[in-house]
Amino acid sequence: MRKPIIVGNWKMNKGPEEAQKFYIELEKIMDGKTVDVEWAIAAPALSMVSLMADTDKGLYIPLAAQNVHHAKSGAFTGELSLDMLMEYGLEYVIIGHSERREYFNETDETVNLKIKATIANSDLTPIMAFGETEKEFDDKKTLEVVKRQITKGLDGISKEDAKEIVLAYEPIWAIGTGKTATPKQAQDVIKHSRDIVKEMFGKEVSEAIRIQYGGSMKPENIKELMEQPDIDGGLVGGASLDAKSFYKLLTYNKD
Ligand code: PGA
Repeated sequence: MRKPIIVGNWKMNKGPEEAQKFYIELEKIMDGKTVDVEWAIAAPALSMVSLMADTDKGLYIPLAAQNVHHAKSGAFTGELSLDMLMEYGLEYVIIGHSERREYFNETDETVNLKIKATIANSDLTPIMAFGETEKEFDDKKTLEVVKRQITKGLDGISKEDAKEIVLAYEPIWAIGTGKTATPKQAQDVIKHSRDIVKEMFGKEVSEAIRIQYGGSMKPENIKELMEQPDIDGGLVGGASLDAKSFYKLLTYNKD
């Protein structure tokens, strides 16, 4: 059984003060209750500390980075290293988000370098995002693009390590647009992605690896998406910014 994993991706939203407000609100809503899913929040680096509990009794929020550099340290202005993320106690790192690919020149090759560095030099779980543009979707190139991104992104990784990676299928035309892929569309591409993992690493890895859906996922549609046999979670932008809405996502399976 694959454990569902829901990750909130705040992108460049919420400074330390707003993050602290979110923390206080979520702590109140959760009120010591646990949820059945694995979860995390990918906040901007400067806001992470606002999501950390002051006391042992405070709410523990698992944290994810939105990006990382593959080098250990050095002259890379504006970047963060794996050691820095680990020192802060982060548990996950999103790699290859479409906005990083589109605006910051990330390629399948840099994504692969980052995944390999994360596995070799940290205990963080990489969440590798991939997905087609609207044009590629219209041109019916989705399956081809997804195959290239997964094959190149996971190139050279061992079976043992591949099992622990989380994949996130995010059709770019559905991100922040309110246009969610239908459960069937998402399921079909995610099933195809699992088949690619099977070709690369075998049946056992393909059955163990978790694949999230991302793109306008929200409390109103999470249930039907999660009912699909191959969808194991969500990478959620807009709907993760509000504590109530985020908690609804974490408890989608409890009525
Ligand atoms: P969205 O973003 O939920 O706002 O569409 C998802 C993402 O980019 O990870």
